[in-house]
Amino acid sequence: MTTKIFRKKIVCIGAGYVGGPTMTIIANNCPDYQVTVVDISEERINAWNSDQLPIFEPGLLERIQKTRGKNLFFSTDIDRCIEEADIIFVAVNTPTKTFGEGEGKAVDLQYIEQTARRIKKNAKSNKIVVEKSTIPVRAAETLANILHSGSNSVQFEILSNPEFMAEGTGVEDMEAPDRVLIGSKGTPSGIIARDTLMEIYLHWVPRERLVTTNLWSSELSKLVSNAFLAQRISSINTIAALCEVTEADVTEVSRAIGMDSRIGAKFLNAGPGFGGSCFRKDILNLVYLCEYYQLPEVAAFWEQVVALNDYQMERYVKRILQAMFNTLVGKKLAVFGFAFKPDTGDTRDAPAIYICKQLLEERADLNITDPHALDNARKELQGIEGEVSFVEDPYKAAEGAHGIALITEWNLYQELDYQKIYDSMEKPAFIFDGRNCLDHQALYEIGFNVYPLGKPPLNHL
Ligand code: UDX
Ligand code: UDX
Repeated sequence: MTTKIFRKKIVCIGAGYVGGPTMTIIANNCPDYQVTVVDISEERINAWNSDQLPIFEPGLLERIQKTRGKNLFFSTDIDRCIEEADIIFVAVNTPTKTFGEGEGKAVDLQYIEQTARRIKKNAKSNKIVVEKSTIPVRAAETLANILHSGSNSVQFEILSNPEFMAEGTGVEDMEAPDRVLIGSKGTPSGIIARDTLMEIYLHWVPRERLVTTNLWSSELSKLVSNAFLAQRISSINTIAALCEVTEADVTEVSRAIGMDSRIGAKFLNAGPGFGGSCFRKDILNLVYLCEYYQLPEVAAFWEQVVALNDYQMERYVKRILQAMFNTLVGKKLAVFGFAFKPDTGDTRDAPAIYICKQLLEERADLNITDPHALDNARKELQGIEGEVSFVEDPYKAAEGAHGIALITEWNLYQELDYQKIYDSMEKPAFIFDGRNCLDHQALYEIGFNVYPLGKPPLNHL
């Protein structure tokens, strides 16, 4: 048996939503590189080595099956992999701090620091270290300081290469990215490291899509990119509130403004609020940075994007409460969708968490349904008081319910037989389409009292 000689060895520390898919796409496109994804969690690594992946991402399993065991490996042997690697990606989690200075806003850098120390301890030859995790501006400096401290003669070159993929479309986002951003130092060794990373991406990404900047711009661009996207959602959600009281229709307004090419049509869908592991965390990180650099007005501007998101979730619950005669006590509500968006099982910071907790506070009974997120939904609501059931089948979830709260716009919810659902529900039956993805007129004609988001209700009462 001959062992294949690879051009370079890549290791990625952190086999999560970012590390797993990114490395799979690199391995798929670069058969001449050995790619190993490592993690401290044995359970996660075992899952990546099986066909029950730890995350649900359309198209990912097929791509893993193509390369796993050939040039793509998942392992817990972190130290050996660090020692052997030429290029080390860091994709460990960088959550918001829940304690001490900067609590609730600043990034908790403990995993980044632990990872840096582990790299330093095990590296015996020069390495390129690539920040994939989203970290605060100038974090590369901290990383470099740790790596170069003490008597180690190994040279580390730090690059910033933030990930812009969105969950649910991760595979296509990575296979045909709008851009790949690489931040490096302008020193000769920084440029060589940058070119080494560019070589990897050039296997499938056109040269004009590779954007190179200095390290700090790259780190900041990641935060700003997410902040701008979230800001658009909060902006349209404020307009949804205005539409509901003026009889304007937010989808018509979105369409009208989105056709202006200067504004653009994307990210203008009003909803119950944005969720996911990035938006809130990254904006709060930006706010913290602005406060740290004594720019309170700038901090306040961005903080308002998050405040409006909280307001939007509250508004959604209030509308349900008001429509259902100001009491939910003992009423059954079917919750359609718990994931923070469709095509993912991820529930991190999902609006459904807040909304369900509030509905339970109002003492509603909840039947939660979701095609891929029920396990995570169970974990998110563990220990919360109230009547909650988790039901695979949306028809069963709606049986005997007084209302349906649609929070995630899974395609399957558009294809259900709503006459059958209506017939099985208590009357008057309500539906609160938090994503404006259903045919409201048809639902109204069936007999539902329909509450879209950002438009007047269609009410029989
Ligand atoms: C996370 C952050 O959410 C994102 O902002 C950042 O850009 C990258 O890291 P994600 O991949 O979604 O993205 O996180 P998660 O799914 O939690 O994966 C992180 C993995 O790192 C976990 O599997 C965890 O076990 C692993 N880890 C963490 C290590 O291997 N070593 C550590 O020291 C800490
Ligand atoms: C986001 C960024 O898009 C991605 O570039 C980055 O790498 C990680 O963070 P993600 O969190 O996976 O990706 O999902 P995204 O599609 O951006 O949606 C985030 C939230 O915004 C979801 O809760 C979604 O429902 C909501 N959203 C999105 C709206 O409410 N309206 C919209 O028009 C678009």
